[in-house]
Amino acid sequence: MDGLGTAGGGSAFASLSRPPLDAGALRRALVTADSMWTALTVVPDVGSTNDALAQEAHNGGESGRILLAEYQSAGHGRLDRTWTAPPRSSVAMSVLVRPDVPVRWWPWIPLLTGLAVAAACRRVADVPATLKWPNDVLVEGQKLAGILVQRVEDPTPAAVIGIGLNVSQTRAELPGPEAVSLVLAGATSTDRSLLVRTALRGLENLLAGWIRRGGEATDDFVGAYVDACSTIGQRVRVELPGASVMHGEAVGVDRRGRLLVRRDEGGAPVPVSAGDVVHVRTTSA
Ligand code: BTN
Repeated sequence: MDGLGTAGGGSAFASLSRPPLDAGALRRALVTADSMWTALTVVPDVGSTNDALAQEAHNGGESGRILLAEYQSAGHGRLDRTWTAPPRSSVAMSVLVRPDVPVRWWPWIPLLTGLAVAAACRRVADVPATLKWPNDVLVEGQKLAGILVQRVEDPTPAAVIGIGLNVSQTRAELPGPEAVSLVLAGATSTDRSLLVRTALRGLENLLAGWIRRGGEATDDFVGAYVDACSTIGQRVRVELPGASVMHGEAVGVDRRGRLLVRRDEGGAPVPVSAGDVVHVRTTSA
């Protein structure tokens, strides 16, 4: 199936195949006495869920806040890219956390989020979701979900974790051929509420374990990430901040969550903490 039948593609059936999120059911499932999540709101539209929660964080908002939007008019991604999707066609959500962990370990937050989102897509939708370092969720090389973690320092440190997951967009509704939606990837389910529940329960488990360890990454922990990350073992081009470019092979991830790249010119693997990674396809002779 090409997905048009399910997604509706602007037909009169589009709203039927794109049901609204059920805020009450999500709240009952996620905001429980023993959960990390403390409040959940679904809004019909907002500029950006990340910007809204960053503002709440500045105003002293509590940890565990979840904000979902059916539509974002000013959604954005890493490197100031825009992030847009038709109403109800995607999951656009942010959570505000204030983990009791030294901030030097916080670079693990986006990686853990990627793990949780990829696992939810595999489990709920049965698509072969993997990760591109640090946290893009891919299906067969195309981008299914993006994650944007913004730090807020004032008045006290907080992280706003933004997740954008393409669910029912048609090919024409996606930003380009490098993107894919669950429908186009042949998902067995596109139930957005179930995806949200599964992703946030998974994220809660991962964050709770990480917080218990004081944020430090054990070998098991690094191994779990490496197993899910399709970047490892690939030839990569890394566009580094400041416009320089590195070519080499991704050989691992260190305890700080940095990608280790063995450069073509040789030497010990170099840790990369920020950059845009491109998986370079090699052609066999
Ligand atoms: C990326 O891949 O560049 C990250 C994309 C992050 C998009 C999500 S959608 C919900 C949240 N609100 C935003 O404005 N951005 C994130």
